[in-house]
This record gives sequence, structure tokens and C-alpha cells, in this order.
Amino acid sequence: MTSAWDTLEKLHADTRDRRILSLFDADPARFDSFSAEVDGLLLDYSKTNIDADTRAALLELAEAADVPGQRDRMFSGGIVNSTEGRAVLHTALRAQTADPLLVGGEDVRPGVAEMLQRLEEFAEAVRSGALTTPAGRKFTDVVNIGIGGSDLGPLMAVRALAPYHDGPACHFVSNIDGAHVRDTLAALNPETTLVIIASKTFTTVETMTNAAAAIRWLEAAVGKEAAGHLAAVSSAPDRAAELGITADRVFGFADWVGGRYSLWGPVGLPIMLAIGAANFRDFLAGGAAMDDHFRTAEADRNLPLMMGLVGIWHNNICGYDSRAVLPYDQRLERLPAYLQQLEMESNGKRTQVNGDTVERATCPIVWGEPGTNGQHAFYQLLHQGTRIVPAEFLIAAEAHEPDLQHHHDLLKANCLAQSEALMCGRSLEEARDLVAKSGLPDGDIEAETLACHRSFPGNRPSVTLAYPKLTPFVLGQIIALYEHRVFVEGVIWGINSFDQWGVELGKELANSLLPMVQGASAERKDGSTRGLLAKLSGSSA
Ligand code: F6P
Repeated sequence: MTSAWDTLEKLHADTRDRRILSLFDADPARFDSFSAEVDGLLLDYSKTNIDADTRAALLELAEAADVPGQRDRMFSGGIVNSTEGRAVLHTALRAQTADPLLVGGEDVRPGVAEMLQRLEEFAEAVRSGALTTPAGRKFTDVVNIGIGGSDLGPLMAVRALAPYHDGPACHFVSNIDGAHVRDTLAALNPETTLVIIASKTFTTVETMTNAAAAIRWLEAAVGKEAAGHLAAVSSAPDRAAELGITADRVFGFADWVGGRYSLWGPVGLPIMLAIGAANFRDFLAGGAAMDDHFRTAEADRNLPLMMGLVGIWHNNICGYDSRAVLPYDQRLERLPAYLQQLEMESNGKRTQVNGDTVERATCPIVWGEPGTNGQHAFYQLLHQGTRIVPAEFLIAAEAHEPDLQHHHDLLKANCLAQSEALMCGRSLEEARDLVAKSGLPDGDIEAETLACHRSFPGNRPSVTLAYPKLTPFVLGQIIALYEHRVFVEGVIWGINSFDQWGVELGKELANSLLPMVQGASAERKDGSTRGLLAKLSGSSA
């Protein structure tokens, strides 16, 4: 392992001042060599400072970390999530194979197929109106109550696939802030609303509290018929039953599906209600195609592997500590938030599988917004700030709005302009010429000073994911690609990407603080917490 890292460090030292642009001069076929494509989804990483030697060293690092072996272990149902003693097999939810998939010696395929069929029957019955409210009315609206993985995935995907949305309107309530449930329900008619309570554990305080509020809202309108407006998604179906939800409305999934990897199964019910079972199957097929690719493609043509290695290069070797996700696709507006959970909850860790403290930085800070909006907000920092933030652009060749072709042409031009500007920049000399041509503004600024302000360092790396059109299949490919990228990086850092112990302490403290918020003594708390409690209670400290 060490030697692969050492090689990379040395390569970086030798090439750190090189202009990325010069790599294109040296190799006119660089775009072809430093991009990879599967089923129409292209990953271009040519606008990075990675060359053939760097790539070879990165691939060596992946081999040394046994990424292929760990990958095969995950796909074959091994206990990859060691701290929770669980297999990691969300891929089984989308698998297109009839081959057995064993967890603890048991083939999980029949159970997955049966659950998919139940979900489809339920979703299609709601969509068609065959399944109505107890009063015989068609469901017009669906409210999904969940948080984290039980919210972000379906929310992101429902928005992403709006052109396919011909089912009931879907709404999402996640935050414990009462404003969220209040404002969402205020716009809806309880008599025609289906409420899905989505929680893997069915213990999450936000979801349980919001669910109780929604049930009260339903009961106020339809009384004892409220149960006919409910459905539940959980790995703990018994707890759902305790809320009075009948077994035919409870959709369970196994503990080998992590919350943030769960939109492929019952947690994806809102997606299925929105776009229908056939489109949902296309979404699964896209994910499965990416799985096959990840398992079988040559290393240097393997999108998840290469995307993970580009991430390692930027994070661990170049020292860039964040990455911006910039979808030039408005319907992917929630993708950055979705990826924040997927990446930062999976890989935001400091302890390795064996208990050692990691020696290198793990997950970078993931953030972003759709382009072109971001251009008018934070791109200033991307272009001229002191930090280098590797950017990930996403763009479709074709939009869903043929009558607004000019919009899409502008969108594409902007996307390409940004990655070009990041890489090429504008030299001081060019800026001087520009200032000479455009003249000086009023005031007493000198030409040279203005030229400094108008120059761009460039040489800032980015990757671009380009796809034919944002279809369910393509969305499936993209999400599975990101999942596997997380996996590759996690294996290289030697961490378990599938637990989330870091969220526990805050939950425990919130439980202990609740009585104090409600008036109990806070004398054992620190001074700041005591002061804030007093301030928030309205009394003086
Ligand atoms: O608190 C973090 C977390 O456990 C996430 O991992 C999970 O997606 C979310 O809470 C919601 O959990 P659940 O689906 O069990 O309500």
C-alpha cells in the first residue's frame, strides 16, 4: 500500500506545476484516453492533471487495497458492514439476474422479487384508482414522511423524473421543525391523501413525530378511516403494525439494505407511485447495468473505479478538501443533497475497519447546486478563490423540452464554458490585453491592478458526466455510479462505508436536552449550552 501512495506523492511532486491544458497538446487523443463510457453515460476526466503514469499508479493503489476483492465480497453477500454485522446487498434490489444471491446461505432473490411485485401492485392500484380511500375517492396526493435515506432518495428521484410523473402528486416531510409538516399538509386535502411513513428502523424521532401529526390530521378529517390513508416502509414491519397500519400496506426490507442505499426498494415507493412500475423497472435496470459494468469492465474503463480514483487523487494527493457537484440539469437539484448523505455519511469517518485511526483524509466536503444558478452565486470562489475545489459537472445531450431547445443549447454552452474556464483560466497577459481594450472604470485604479483582478489562475480540475437524456435508466446508472464511487474510496481508506455511528451522539444529547428545553434543570451542562437554553426559554441566564 505504502509504495503505491509514495509513487503517487512523487508523481504529484513532479507534475504539480504542470498545466492541465498542456496535456492536451502533448496527447491529441487525451479526451478518448481519459474518458470512459458505458451505455451512453460518459465520464470525462481529461480535465484533470492525471496522466498515464498517475492513472497506472492509482490503479495500482486500488489493487493494493483489494478493491476488486472487496467489490466481489460485497456483491456476493459477505459481511462487509462489520460494525453492524451485516451484508451490503442493495444491489440485489435492482439485480436483473436469475442467479441466486446468497446472504448467510439464503437466496434473497425470491423475497426481493415478491416485494417488488407487491409494491408494483399497490402503486399501480393507487395510480389507476383501483385502490381508493375508504370513502371511495382516488388518491390525488402522496405524502412521504421520512428523513435521511428514507427521504432524500425518493425526493431527489421524483424531482429528477418529473417528465415521467403521471401519478399522484408527491410531497415530502422530513424535518422535525413543525413548519415542515404544517406547511406541507396545509396545501392538501386529507380526504384524498395517502401518507407513507418511511423509516428503516421505525424509531427515528423526526419521522415518528411527523407521522403522529399526519395521523392526527387524517383522523380529524376522516376519523377511524385514517388507516386506509396510510402505508409504511420499514425494516421493522412489526413496529409499523403498532401504528394500526394493516399488513398489506406495510412494505419491508432487509437489514442488508442501508438507509442511504434504499431507494431501489420499498423506500422508492413514492418514485413508483409517481412514474409507474414500468419506468421504475427502467430505473432499476440502469442501476443493474452499472453494477455489471463495475464488476466486469476493464479497470481503466471502469467508471466507478476511475471516478473513485480521481477522487482519491484530488483529495489525498492534491489536498483538495471539498468537491462541488454541479448538475446542469435543474431536475437534479436535490442530487447534491442526496450525495451529501451518500458520501459524507458513508465515508466521513476516521476509524478504519480494524479500529486503527486513518492516516489520510477521508471524505471531502460534498456540496453543490444546479448550474447555471450556481454561476451567479459561488462560482466566483471556484474561479478565483484561494481554494481549489474539484468540480463534477453533469449534463444531458438532450432535454425533455424540444420546444425550448435554445434553453438547452445555452445550458450546454454554459456547462462547457465553466469547465473550460476552470482549466484554462485567463493569464495576466490576456487580462492586460482585455483591460487595454475595454478601458479603465471611473476612479483611480491602474491598468495593471485591474488586470490582476481580471486574471484567472485556471488549472482547476473538473470531471464531467454526460448522458443522452435524464431518463429513469440514466438516473439509475448515475446513482449506482455514485454508490460504487463511495465504495471504491471507502475501501482505499480502509473504512466501513456502511455504518453511521457518528450520528448517534447528537441523537442521544437531543434526548437528554429535551427535558431541559421543557424546563428541567440544566446545571450539569456546559456554560454555553446553559446560556443558550436560557435564551431560548425566554428567561434570563
Ligand atoms: O441518523 C442517520 C440515519 O440513521 C440515516 O442513516 C438514515 O437514513 C436516517 O437516519 C433515517 O433512518 P430511518 O430510515 O431508520 O428512519
